[in-house]
Amino acid sequence: MGASMSFEEYKNKIKRVIITEEEISKAIKLAGKQISDIYDGNPILLVSILKGAFVFMADLCRAIDVPCEIGFMCAKSYYSGTVSTGKVNITMDLEQDISKYHVVIVEDIIDTGRTLNDIVKLLKQREPLSIRVVTLLDKPDRRLVDFKADISLFTIPDLFVIGYGLDCGEIFRNLPYIAEYNTEE
Ligand code: IMP
Ligand code: MG
Repeated sequence: MGASMSFEEYKNKIKRVIITEEEISKAIKLAGKQISDIYDGNPILLVSILKGAFVFMADLCRAIDVPCEIGFMCAKSYYSGTVSTGKVNITMDLEQDISKYHVVIVEDIIDTGRTLNDIVKLLKQREPLSIRVVTLLDKPDRRLVDFKADISLFTIPDLFVIGYGLDCGEIFRNLPYIAEYNTEE
């Protein structure tokens, strides 16, 4: 998609900024403090769901002051574009044996809830010391399975959003803010 798009078309797809860099940064400082308070000096394992959560993970881990290990999993729930396939695929698993860890899953967005519902179920079977979920964005209007994050930084309406790690067709992840995607041709 990105390769066949002119710069004009690219810019046209970024409809409007809905969450600024400053707002994101402020919310992350608060979430980092909240997480540090919950674990109170105990070590944690932050687990990021790639690819969308990589930017959030990089900023959030630096706002936390308890000892942290970092782990990555790759889950795909969208094949392309803005249409959910309804199927979650774990394409890369964690390297850590999580039975020794307090696990904090770091996710970019909860939409239908299927991805996290499946991932939490899977990780709970491995009997971690505890497990919590922090998400940057939450779109509660689109939920298909009952799922709630422990910490959610922003609740947004039913819009397709891009930036700060989130993509459409693998581009726009590097935008420093969250923007609404222009779905018009
Ligand atoms: P869920 O399984 O429907 O909750 O989908 C979660 C995944 O879908 C997220 O981790 C994103 O990768 C993707 N997704 C959902 N909504 C959006 C969006 O508005 N923009 C970009 N990706 C999204
Ligand atoms: Mg994601």
